[in-house]
Amino acid sequence: MKIGIILGTRPEIIKLSSIIRVLEKLKSDKKLNDTYNNINNMNYFIIHTNQHYSENMDKIFFKELNLPAPNYNLNVGSGTHGEQTAKMLEGIEKILIKEKPNVVIVQGDTNTVLAGALASSKLKIKVAHVESGLRSYDRNMPEEINRVLTDHLSDYLFTPTEIAKKNLLKEGIEQEKIFVVGNTIVDATLQNIKIAEERDDIKNFIKTLSNGEEYFLLTLHRAENTDNKERLKNIIKAIGEIAKYHNNKIIFPIHPRTENRLKEYNLFDEIKNNKNIKIIEPVGYLEFLMLEKNARLILTDSGGVQEEACILKVPCITLRDNTERPETINAGSNILVGADKEKIINGVELMLKKERNWKNPFGDGNSGENIIKILLNQI
Ligand code: UD1
Ligand code: UDP
Repeated sequence: MKIGIILGTRPEIIKLSSIIRVLEKLKSDKKLNDTYNNINNMNYFIIHTNQHYSENMDKIFFKELNLPAPNYNLNVGSGTHGEQTAKMLEGIEKILIKEKPNVVIVQGDTNTVLAGALASSKLKIKVAHVESGLRSYDRNMPEEINRVLTDHLSDYLFTPTEIAKKNLLKEGIEQEKIFVVGNTIVDATLQNIKIAEERDDIKNFIKTLSNGEEYFLLTLHRAENTDNKERLKNIIKAIGEIAKYHNNKIIFPIHPRTENRLKEYNLFDEIKNNKNIKIIEPVGYLEFLMLEKNARLILTDSGGVQEEACILKVPCITLRDNTERPETINAGSNILVGADKEKIINGVELMLKKERNWKNPFGDGNSGENIIKILLNQI
């Protein structure tokens, strides 16, 4: 039994970490194999496309999450969608022909995911898609195209919720292929917040950043915001006004894509010179979880951050017009405000009044283990 894991970006490393941990345990503890459907000689390998490659978008997560180094690194890096995906396809195909895994696991909706699923399915290797069935129904998003195509190429579709399962059934995907297992982000959040809370250096880091005062946390990187000057400008203006009105720090670990675009549009200095906005480099997972947990409010366009805010019981304001995570809206932890200045400002006021009594809709934190159990039973 051989499993291939394909990953390439920050959220994939985080959301596959619990699955990789289970596979590591299975590889080394033969007795454990009996409890996983009598699998003999289970082995696995990791292909890293290196879609993300900066130290603080990549290696820091392997280190902090104590993950084994990838067996293969394709060094694909950045590029246009076609260029990046084509390089990945070529590199992945060569390795899969050599390794001949029984199944390949991909997670999420990035170009790495589409390339991994496409290369595998053309080689008639089974594909397992983790976090399947998410839909924003907005084809302007590159992620939506990757989601739909990957789901239709996959043999085992692991959805986080019943809503995601329904999305797949509506598209004609067979019921037998779909397994509702929760989201592995709950595994990652619950496993790592405990570790982070024990770390004095991280507590001190947060204290220094915030002066021990109340703060809001901001992340921003989606193409629909960063690659549209008007939207980005509106968001930055709203953030400036919110910081001023609340006389509150806004801590902003900035994605490299966003820093590049802000500089290109001559908006970077405006935000850097605002003493209420604290721009920092992207931080490691333990640091980020603690930044989230201690924030008064989170503003974001990230998928994973919408989920983590819901799990950690921090009100979230999503700087997008739609979300493929409607469960967070239904739970009451999240609202959509798009890139409209007034809506963002009003959204903050609304969410500041929010009682943090919602339920996490993404499962109990055992998704990684359940996915591997189901997968080994199916193959
Ligand atoms: C990608 C995913 C997006 C996901 C995000 C997670 C696609 C189409 N998009 O977006 O769904 O939410 O990852 O963070 O797959 N860069 C660096 N260092 C890095 C990585 C990127 O400097 O390690 C800069 C480069 O200038 C690059 C830009 O960021 O051109 C964008 O990187 P890319 O991987 O194309 O997309 P993301 O915006 O990161
Ligand atoms: N994250 C992190 N450090 C940061 C910003 C985010 O560790 O400085 C983590 C965050 O906790 C979440 C994931 O990165 O688990 C989300 O990744 P991102 O927002 O880049 O992508 P998306 O989820 O939108 O695809």
